[in-house]
Amino acid sequence: MLIGMPQAAAAVVHGKDPSTVRPAAALPLKLLRPLLLVAVLGTGFLAAVALLVGGPAYSSALPRPPVALPPAPPSGGGKQPLERWARAPASAWHNMTDDELLWAASWRPSVRRYPYRRTPKVAFMFLTRGPLPLAPLWERFFAGAGGGDAGLFSVYVHATPGYRPDFAPASAFYRRQVPSQVAEWGEPSMFDAERRLLANALLDPGNERFVLLSESCVPLYGFPAVYSYLTRSRESFVGAFDDPGPGGRGRYQGGLAPEVVREQFRKGAQWFELERALAVDVVADGRYYPKFREHCRPPCYADEHYLPTALSILAPARIANRSVTWVDWSRGGAHPATFGEADVGEAFLRRLTAPGKDQGNCTYNGQPAQVCFLFARKLAPGTLQPLLRLAPKLLGYG
Ligand SMILES: *[C@@H]1O[C@H](CO)[C@@H](O)[C@H](O)[C@H]1NC(C)=O
Ligand SMILES: *[C@@H]1O[C@H](CO)[C@@H](O)[C@H](O)[C@H]1NC(C)=O
Ligand SMILES: *[C@@H]1O[C@H](CO)[C@@H](O)[C@H](O)[C@H]1NC(C)=O
Repeated sequence: MLIGMPQAAAAVVHGKDPSTVRPAAALPLKLLRPLLLVAVLGTGFLAAVALLVGGPAYSSALPRPPVALPPAPPSGGGKQPLERWARAPASAWHNMTDDELLWAASWRPSVRRYPYRRTPKVAFMFLTRGPLPLAPLWERFFAGAGGGDAGLFSVYVHATPGYRPDFAPASAFYRRQVPSQVAEWGEPSMFDAERRLLANALLDPGNERFVLLSESCVPLYGFPAVYSYLTRSRESFVGAFDDPGPGGRGRYQGGLAPEVVREQFRKGAQWFELERALAVDVVADGRYYPKFREHCRPPCYADEHYLPTALSILAPARIANRSVTWVDWSRGGAHPATFGEADVGEAFLRRLTAPGKDQGNCTYNGQPAQVCFLFARKLAPGTLQPLLRLAPKLLGYG
């Protein structure tokens, strides 16, 4: 298995626990405390002045704020002011509107170095209609991360509104559902759902890489290899290519101009992987997304064209122009092949994981890579048993 991994990814498997990798230059907290104290005292002083000078005028002249102020942090503020910025929300569920959520998710620090020890997490974001039939396989994959407590990953599930999943408290999926809206294939509501998932995952400041998955996706390697591959990549894995034919530029809609002209129109698979900085750009995008939402209607599909196009314009050097999710288009038609129980055997899994022509030609951090895909789709629910049986030997987990 390891022979195929790029060197960086293999390093972790060879015994380097990624959780012990210290951010290169974390500012000692000791230095930070006096600064925070000054900031807190200064703010308090200004607030007192504002109350004395403008207090009464404020309450009578200004309209009441339209929404209630957010509640104080659960711990009542805590002893450690930094906690407010560094801690994950207690639950994936909340009652923010989409506008509130996207706004909250769009915050980002301007100082690039984290002044505390931050272990980057991978957010696994499942976009599904309902059940996750392959969840038992994912549980075994996540078990390889040392459990949720090790803090190397987080899980988010966007299902059809009203769907109530039934996971045991020990499950990685337990209470990881986010507030959702109906998402229809081929409609802009599909990318709305993807953005909503991203925004929810951004609320956890520890999340650094964000993978979009469906209920038919499976991991092809053990957690440490996947974690390492993603967190050490300098690029985000977003498929983007220029297809001059009817299925590509032919789907361009004039309404997208002038922000996007036909030559800039790109295509790529829906199943993206993004680093945090680009994820913030996506939830905060008020330039391209509103145009796609309004004008990219069939035969234009926002979930296939928006992200490849917007990121090829905004950050072309930061995307790998490829997905890390394998899918089989070789059977032709409008949809990729779905694999059933009978398809999933040793040969099939070896084909997906062995270095070679099925991996395609890809690069990783600028070097030719042996492993191009970390996940595969579309696997039918019936593949669960053969996958559970073969994963320990062929996929390196379970
Ligand atoms: C929103 O969530 C808070 C905290 O979970 C809860 O106290 C409040 O009642 C909720 N409000 C609504 C309108 O559901
Ligand atoms: C992806 O394509 C862009 C052009 O849109 C290019 O600038 C960039 O270097 C490509 N990325 C890789 C990893 O080849
Ligand atoms: C893969 O890349 C090599 C070297 O860049 C090239 O010679 C070869 O034709 C490529 N193969 C495919 C299938 O694209």
